[in-house]
Amino acid sequence: MDRKIIVSGMRPTGALHLGNYFGALENWVRLQEEFECYFFVADWHALTTGYEDTSEIKKNINELVIDWLSAGLDPNKCVLFLQSSIKEHAELHLLLSMTTPLSWLTRCPTYKDQLTQLKDKDITTYGFLGYPCLMASDILLYKASFVPVGEDQLPHLELTREIARRFNYLYGNVFPEPQGKLTQAKVLPGTDGRKMSKSYGNTIAFSDSPEVIRKKVMTMVTDPQRIKKTDPGHPEVCSVFAYHKIFNDGELSKIEEECKGGKIGCVQCKRHLSDKMVEYFAPMYEKRQELLKKPGIVDEVINAGNKKALEKASVTMKEIRSAMRID
Ligand code: TRP
Ligand code: SF4
Repeated sequence: MDRKIIVSGMRPTGALHLGNYFGALENWVRLQEEFECYFFVADWHALTTGYEDTSEIKKNINELVIDWLSAGLDPNKCVLFLQSSIKEHAELHLLLSMTTPLSWLTRCPTYKDQLTQLKDKDITTYGFLGYPCLMASDILLYKASFVPVGEDQLPHLELTREIARRFNYLYGNVFPEPQGKLTQAKVLPGTDGRKMSKSYGNTIAFSDSPEVIRKKVMTMVTDPQRIKKTDPGHPEVCSVFAYHKIFNDGELSKIEEECKGGKIGCVQCKRHLSDKMVEYFAPMYEKRQELLKKPGIVDEVINAGNKKALEKASVTMKEIRSAMRID
């Protein structure tokens, strides 16, 4: 039984928030049932923008893997590994950098965006320009058919295909061309109603305890026109209502009606949401508590995953060297 191969990575930049969970992780957990999945911590990618301060990176890697396992990624069903442990990623990155025209990298929209957005960091580096080349290596090394990513990553995937095509043209057919696999992500606004993002300080972390979830939900912005409970509300502009859509689907029309009719207060509505959220995440929160009792668990999982990733990566790397006649 030959399952199609999936590869995806996350940069270790701190605790995942619910936007990350519903945007990516929840999807990964589903995909491991159906595909041969390679999921990795993209620590080298984290360096492309965060090379100056690496003091948090070990802690972030650890937290990310704990998030993955709590969410239900199962090392018996998928391969979980650390990018920097598999030196083949670096070797392929070097080889692909030989064949990748500079213009492909400089015209990449994410490159131009980030250069203007990350003004506080000096990312006019060789490594940052080569980000898509490293990402192509991650993907091609495992001969992925599909790459689950957010929309923002699609230009990188397009580049990966171009890089693969050029390699195949120059040295013979080695790489399949991977396809992006977009999730129809459920969108959760941040607690202030803007996009959930660490830089806005409006996140609910996937690791937040029930108490913290309750506290944060209480601070969420609602319909600003509602002052008294009897004021008719507008659920469509309310972040709390957006959350009810995900966590409390069954009672959605009831809440909508009660809000519009001024029959339910926002505090009560939030309490109700908190209950539903805490219930939703309870199994994952329990799993996390168990994992935190086993201090060696992350190393154990990653070491085992690294072995499997290396097996696959070395086979492809041999083929690549031989195709290029540098074996
Ligand atoms: N660039 C991706 C992101 O920032 C992370 C990543 C690195 C990745 N290598 C990858 C994703 C390979 C998919 C496949 O989200
Ligand atoms: Fe939002 Fe609920 Fe208040 Fe309506 S009652 S505005 S849905 S918090």
